[in-house]
Amino acid sequence: EWNMHNFTENAIKEVKELVGDKKVLCALSGGVDSSVAAVLVHRAIGDNLTCIFVDHGLLRKNEGDQVEELFKNKFNMNLIRVNAQERFLGKLAGVSDPEMKRKIIGEEFIRLFEEESKKLGHIDYLVQGTVYPDVIESGTDTASVIKSHHNVGGLPEDMEFELIEPLRQLFKDEVRKVGEELEIPEEVVWRQPFPGPGLAIRVLGEVREDKLKIVRESDHIFREEIRKAGLQRKIWQYFTVLPNIKSVGVMGDERTYAHTVGIRAVTSSDGMTSDWARIPYEVIEKISNRIVNEVDNVNRIVYDVTSKPPSTIEWE
Ligand code: XMP
Repeated sequence: EWNMHNFTENAIKEVKELVGDKKVLCALSGGVDSSVAAVLVHRAIGDNLTCIFVDHGLLRKNEGDQVEELFKNKFNMNLIRVNAQERFLGKLAGVSDPEMKRKIIGEEFIRLFEEESKKLGHIDYLVQGTVYPDVIESGTDTASVIKSHHNVGGLPEDMEFELIEPLRQLFKDEVRKVGEELEIPEEVVWRQPFPGPGLAIRVLGEVREDKLKIVRESDHIFREEIRKAGLQRKIWQYFTVLPNIKSVGVMGDERTYAHTVGIRAVTSSDGMTSDWARIPYEVIEKISNRIVNEVDNVNRIVYDVTSKPPSTIEWE
């Protein structure tokens, strides 16, 4: 019988038989697919799996610590966290073109992954959280790219590993069920999609720490309020962006000249098309008030009401 419980048990058994005592490596991003794949393989082979988690400093608030806490402490997995915030920021300094930012982040990610994996000695297999739609996409979608989707979880092409892709037959909702079978917490299993280049493509133009901080803090507030309103599973993605503009405002007796934060929330079934989410006004009001009050250097909030097409979900 085909159900996710049997699928999970079988997949664990197959990985165990395939790998035996050999060594396996995993690039963990904390996203749904890589997390489920990693935990499944860990269930099969335990300490013969090592995960490398590159923290590029472009993650959401507290995310790096949460990934470490979950995989290292709760699941007792071998996890190497590479703290490379400064290295990435250094490479991104002065760069404002979106595709260039993606390229730099993708390449730096690969370089770090290589550096770390070399320290581990011989590795036989690499786990990837490839899912069925990726399999289809990689077979057909070769020509024009509107935005390059460097899978930052993607890996050096010349590395000689055999791949283990335990989720390649599954759709996203099935991956989530496998995640539940494996007792991965709901905030990971039901996590919204998050781009590999992270907050770097939500700070429009040049990426700097002061700007990242505005996006990180405002995004945290937005997510908190969406959760409080019980909307987290109804909206495909919800996040804030920092357009490169300042405008005039007033606080007390003084004029301010500060940043505008954009809030973006969309409904979608696959990210290919989307509509803007009709978040109740009261929730938007709360989010807006909290962001201008709690995040320094912000005096205006705008709500993005465009669908995809003609927009894209991300602003870069
Ligand atoms: P767009 O903005 O093209 O996004 O409508 C569609 C989906 O893809 C995600 N996205 C990315 N994911 N690397 C990723 O791994 C990227 O460079 C990237 N750009 C966009 C976006 O969050 C949405 O889910």
